[in-house]
Amino acid sequence: MASPSPPLHPATILCIYFVLPAFAELQRLQHQPKHDGSLNFLVIGDWGRKGKYNQSLVATQMGKMGDKLDLDFVVSTGDNFYNSGIKGLNDPIFIQSFSNIYTAKSLRKPWYSVLGNHDYRGNALAQVSPILRKIDRRWFCQRSFVLHAGVADFFFIDTTPFMNKYFNNSNRHYDWRGVLPRQKYLKNLLKDLEEALVKSSARWKIVVGHHAIRSIGHHGDSVELIKLLVPLFEANNVDMYMNGHDHCLQHISSINSPLLYLTSGAGSKAWRGDVKESHSGVKFFYDGQGFMSVQITETDAKFAFYNVSGDQIHHWTVTKPIMHTVA
Ligand SMILES: *[C@@H]1O[C@H](CO)[C@@H](O)[C@H](O)[C@H]1NC(C)=O
Ligand SMILES: *[C@@H]1O[C@H](CO)[C@@H](O)[C@H](O)[C@H]1NC(C)=O
Ligand SMILES: *[C@@H]1O[C@H](CO)[C@@H](O)[C@H](O)[C@H]1NC(C)=O
Repeated sequence: MASPSPPLHPATILCIYFVLPAFAELQRLQHQPKHDGSLNFLVIGDWGRKGKYNQSLVATQMGKMGDKLDLDFVVSTGDNFYNSGIKGLNDPIFIQSFSNIYTAKSLRKPWYSVLGNHDYRGNALAQVSPILRKIDRRWFCQRSFVLHAGVADFFFIDTTPFMNKYFNNSNRHYDWRGVLPRQKYLKNLLKDLEEALVKSSARWKIVVGHHAIRSIGHHGDSVELIKLLVPLFEANNVDMYMNGHDHCLQHISSINSPLLYLTSGAGSKAWRGDVKESHSGVKFFYDGQGFMSVQITETDAKFAFYNVSGDQIHHWTVTKPIMHTVA
């Protein structure tokens, strides 16, 4: 059943999975950016359905856009495998929903991924196991980790354990191995995240998690994350938070800071049709299938959303002037 793992670009092989010495508990990785310092990546979430619900169509369009952009990597915002994650290291769903779907040459790059709530319904330990890279070497999934990539530092955060409702739902099983006791897990994660954010001197600070902080989609805002994460983000000049969970594409601005809330959770089943009342900062909302691209240089971050036909349906640029410090 196992198909051969597609080759990565030779330069990529040298640079990824080089784990730096940890000064905090979070695992740290280095990804070498392009020679001109720029970084291009796609963001996709809520996808693994063996190609169904237009997952394959979205994958095809990602491949085309990836080719145009000369991608450095792909970011996955979680709910990687429906309905219940993977059962174990040999679950064929990993190949059926990942390796056999994202086949374009341009997507043969590292996939930096977090877990979603559906992934926790299966064997969460298996999904974060490095052994999966023997099946498909692109796969990099951890609960929480830091990725240093030139002009940007990425902070990947395990958001499912923050959400109260999953600990109050007796008719569903979640794989909480490694998470319990919950309060200790969350306290350590918040401490490690804060430490990593404070020490980061990158031009851009990007946080990635599964659950939306702000959303007008089906699930709406996450009060737990608003309370625990937003103060950390604002104190440490985080530029953007990227998530999935709601099966849509969304661009929301903060009222009182430059922080952006970006949802890319439209990798397969979408068109849920239930939109909550508007936030004041909503710049764009699309309740269909698609994905996001980001192109970052020292001074500019260029964003675009694409629909299932590969058409650009929203785009904007954020500019960050270089400040010259005066002695
Ligand atoms: C797939 O995308 C097409 C548009 O290309 C749309 O008409 C159709 O409803 C979508 N199918 C599903 C299952 O979402
Ligand atoms: C679980 O639900 C009960 C009753 O609705 C509520 O009082 C309690 O605070 C909830 N616990 C969590 C962890 O959300
Ligand atoms: C994608 O967007 C383009 C441009 O807005 C539009 O013409 C096309 O119908 C859209 N495709 C789908 C499936 O909605």
